[in-house]
Amino acid sequence: MSKPRIRLGLIGYGRHGQGAVFPAIREARGIDLAAVADLSPDHLVKVPGPRVSTYLDYRRMIAHERLDAVYVATPVETHAGVVLAALGAGLHVITEKPMAASVAACRRMIAAATRARRLLVVDFELRYTPGVRQIRTWIAEGRLGRLGAIHIDHFWDGHKTTGPLAERRRRFCDSSGCLDCGIHRLDLPRYFNGGGSWRDIRATGSWFGEAVRYPTHIAIQARLDTGVLVTVNASFAFTAAIPQRLPGSNYEALAILGDRGVIVLHQAPNGSGQLQLVSESLSRVVPFERHGHSSVITRMLNDFAGAVRQGRPLPPEAATGEDGLQAQLITDEANRLAVETGDTFALKARKKKPSNAQR
Ligand SMILES: NC(=O)c1ccc[n+]([C@@H]2O[C@H](COP(=O)([O-])OP(=O)(O)OC[C@H]3O[C@@H](n4cnc5c(N)ncnc54)[C@H](O)[C@@H]3O)[C@@H](O)[C@H]2O)c1
Repeated sequence: MSKPRIRLGLIGYGRHGQGAVFPAIREARGIDLAAVADLSPDHLVKVPGPRVSTYLDYRRMIAHERLDAVYVATPVETHAGVVLAALGAGLHVITEKPMAASVAACRRMIAAATRARRLLVVDFELRYTPGVRQIRTWIAEGRLGRLGAIHIDHFWDGHKTTGPLAERRRRFCDSSGCLDCGIHRLDLPRYFNGGGSWRDIRATGSWFGEAVRYPTHIAIQARLDTGVLVTVNASFAFTAAIPQRLPGSNYEALAILGDRGVIVLHQAPNGSGQLQLVSESLSRVVPFERHGHSSVITRMLNDFAGAVRQGRPLPPEAATGEDGLQAQLITDEANRLAVETGDTFALKARKKKPSNAQR
């Protein structure tokens, strides 16, 4: 039987929860935000009332609120525990990316969702941006023929090495390096390809001298099991140590090659972009616009609410647990390989400094 509206709880009211997820839930169709849980009382006092209850303990929120679903926006290392508790209580779940801190945790989450027969959606919101959807449509229409190669660069101008977000940057770099953000781009080739599993992963990275666990700049090569060659370069190091920013905050490149056409992203110096399709059957240039987190998360929530309320199937834009797992798999393996290879840039930088004994 279809429900008129669903009751949703938000777990994690930090930067992303406050700035993107909360406003997105407020704009979504068919969703009542019943409650917010966060460990921090300072964050909870910022929850705009009056009809939203607040909890320091998300387990109490789940026990008391008669929820249908939760949205998890806590730090990655807590995702698995929170998601397993919610699924165990019979709730549908959307979790933020990265899905979890390990592939094993992703597998436990998928198994729990299957057992509970509940939805488990991962916020790979780029899938919901019109330009990205357009690329998938062209590919699905066969404009490119057989896909051969996908290349993506994403150099992010987000967190500086000093300033208010430096501590957050260090946390991200210790948990997944620049792939904490780059994981959105690692998800895209499978979305364009209509799924698939990763194989033949290779990677090398650079730390630009920062004392963090995983590289702040990484170059990855891999194949999907359909044979598509994928190359992704991701960076947090880009402009991180200099005060200037790039318009639009990113350097982005994208090129997709098939045996009957190509798609290319052209980025203008002001940060805007255009997508160009050149193929045997159609040639087009369309804008490739950026969208704020909130508007694309609202689109994902609308589909999620439709699936929970009316049992409608989720579209390919709503990333599943398997999508989250595959993204985690390539992230972990790329970071592992990069650590194994080391950083010749850092070695050279160290060699330049003679020790006191050598002077
Ligand atoms: N989709 C995107 O593009 C995007 C962008 C930014 C952040 N994120 C993701 O959102 C998540 C949160 O990131 P953030 O930047 O907001 O971090 P944050 O540290 O600013 O906020 C996390 C919040 O979770 C709370 N918290 C921690 N453990 C908790 C628990 N057990 N129960 C309840 N609350 C708990 C903290 O008190 C904090 O308020 C991360 O997974 C991050 O990767 C996604």
